[in-house]
Amino acid sequence: MLVLGIETSCDETGVALYHARRGLLAHALYSQAALHADYGGVVPELASRDHIRRVLPLTRAILAQAGCVLADLDAIAYTQGPGLAGALLVGASIAHGLAYALGVPALGIHHLEGHLLSPLMARPAPQFPFIALLASGGHSQLMRVAGVGDYELLGETLDDAAGEAFDKTAKLLDLGYPGGPALAKLAEQGRRGRITLPRPMLHSGDLEFSFSGLKTAVLMQVKGRALDPQARADIAAEFQAAIVDVLVAKSLAALRLSGLKQLVVAGGVGANLELRARLTQVAARDGLQVFYPALEFCTDNGAMIAFAAAKRLEHASRLTPHASRSFSVRPRWGLETLAPA
Ligand code: KG4
Ligand code: ZN
Repeated sequence: MLVLGIETSCDETGVALYHARRGLLAHALYSQAALHADYGGVVPELASRDHIRRVLPLTRAILAQAGCVLADLDAIAYTQGPGLAGALLVGASIAHGLAYALGVPALGIHHLEGHLLSPLMARPAPQFPFIALLASGGHSQLMRVAGVGDYELLGETLDDAAGEAFDKTAKLLDLGYPGGPALAKLAEQGRRGRITLPRPMLHSGDLEFSFSGLKTAVLMQVKGRALDPQARADIAAEFQAAIVDVLVAKSLAALRLSGLKQLVVAGGVGANLELRARLTQVAARDGLQVFYPALEFCTDNGAMIAFAAAKRLEHASRLTPHASRSFSVRPRWGLETLAPA
């Protein structure tokens, strides 16, 4: 069973070939970061147009790399949502066109399910059930994961996502777009505790998050001040510490409340080394296990889409033989609404 995965939900074109028995055969990613940099954020129309340019050449490249041809594909998976409508439509229409031509099924995959299952590609892999912390540019959620497609939402952000807070704060510190990784890098030179920032909802007694106030607190610190490089690094370090404090505390609370011992961390913010270090530290202290995808599969990629599709197909009693002639994308789509595989 060979699956082609296509990810085009935002500003990265990702494709991958996942084989049910042999694992990941090849993958490729094209980041549009440079395309959007001048605008300080993703321009949806430019994103869609660029996905159109990239998907097929990248697909040809990974097929050649894996020594495969289109006729070897058993299914084509694409990100159906959530994401930018136009960008999603590019992946969906190419996937359905190819699937129709090849007479194989096309599978619409939930982007967050891709993130959430991605740590299962690594070794050692977590066992169901586990708690998942999904922290990306668009989402900050804690889920109880009982199996493929069996997701219970335990808590989520009331406003900005953690990655969004990283990006907005990076902008305030003139770090450009996308700012999360740059802010994390700058934080390495910073000293914690030189400024005071809140830990929003740390003691709210539930599993909800709120990060927009944190960005506003940083705005208050930088407004009208000429900051020297050390002061900027100090702000970055304290901001990162505040986010990590909240993500770690709420993840531990979710584990405690559910009685589970395994935590899976996924989504772009899962690439944050400070978050990983802190979680590893508390896990060792509390007898917990933390699982991450490989760093390259934390942020958006095609491998997680091909892998999630392969997992779903593993559970499917029969394959729909052909792609249907109609399809839709779901720019807004709650993960907890999925049906178990
Ligand atoms: O999962 P992802 O690639 O896209 C979404 O589905 O949103 O996540 C991207 C987000 C961005 O907000 C980016 O700034 C953040 O993840 N991010 C990071 C790091 N790497 C990516 N945030 C903090 N530290 C990092 N090392
Ligand atoms: Zn993502």
